[in-house]
Amino acid sequence: MPADENREVPEHVAIIMDGNGRWAAARGRPRLFGHQAGARRVSEIVAACPGLGVRYLTIFAFSTENWKRSRAEVSGLMALFRRYIVKEAQRLTVNGVRVRFIGDRTRLDPALVRHMDTLETLTRDNDQVHLTVALNYGGRDEIARATRRLAAEVAAGRVDPGDIDACRVERYLDTHGLPDPDLVIRTSGEARVSNFLLWQSAYAEYEFVETLWPDFTAEKFAEVLAGFGKRERRFGAVRA
Ligand code: IPE
Ligand code: IPE
Ligand code: MG
Repeated sequence: MPADENREVPEHVAIIMDGNGRWAAARGRPRLFGHQAGARRVSEIVAACPGLGVRYLTIFAFSTENWKRSRAEVSGLMALFRRYIVKEAQRLTVNGVRVRFIGDRTRLDPALVRHMDTLETLTRDNDQVHLTVALNYGGRDEIARATRRLAAEVAAGRVDPGDIDACRVERYLDTHGLPDPDLVIRTSGEARVSNFLLWQSAYAEYEFVETLWPDFTAEKFAEVLAGFGKRERRFGAVRA
């Protein structure tokens, strides 16, 4: 769904939560120590959304490329995701947060997927904040999976290739039904996209901040949002 207006507060903010490893290294601690601190920050940022007027928050938790990390780090992260879901489920539910997961679930541990499904079901009727967690998510992988499903529809004679436009493709993406992000924030000073929301961010504004994710407080979040209000978005048009 394309964003189509200039607003003071971004309706949908997407965050590439980067810098947990460096944060831990700076303290002489293992990388997982940084991931744990990062998880606590997620709760703070989610809780800040209603007060800041952010209705949709999408966070990058694990990329399709993050499997390249050590086995210990990957399994530590997976265990952290599971613990986080169990621990936060109640709070998210009563706080009106609707949780969705995007990404390829087929490579994830079935026990983790069950927790993800349960949390999605528990929070299905919530509407205050829409939290989307990208877990084993890659933009290219998402587009490839969407294409595979669309091609199957064509092969079955249910879709005419001549009818395939951007709107039709969007229906097959994991994010179907969600608005496009207005603002993508990446922490830790890296200025790259790392395969996050490639299709959906076509007209997003980007903000690259030096802060490492475990240090990204609700106050810093509010500062970045204030900067967004000063931007002029054009969506390809010329200002009237
Ligand atoms: C982001 O922090 C969290 C994940 C990718 C899971 P990193 O683990 O990438 O931290 P740095 O970039 O090594 O500091
Ligand atoms: C992007 O961060 C993925 C997540 C935040 C989950 P990375 O740390 O994996 O990205 P690169 O490797 O620096 O591009
Ligand atoms: Mg990183």
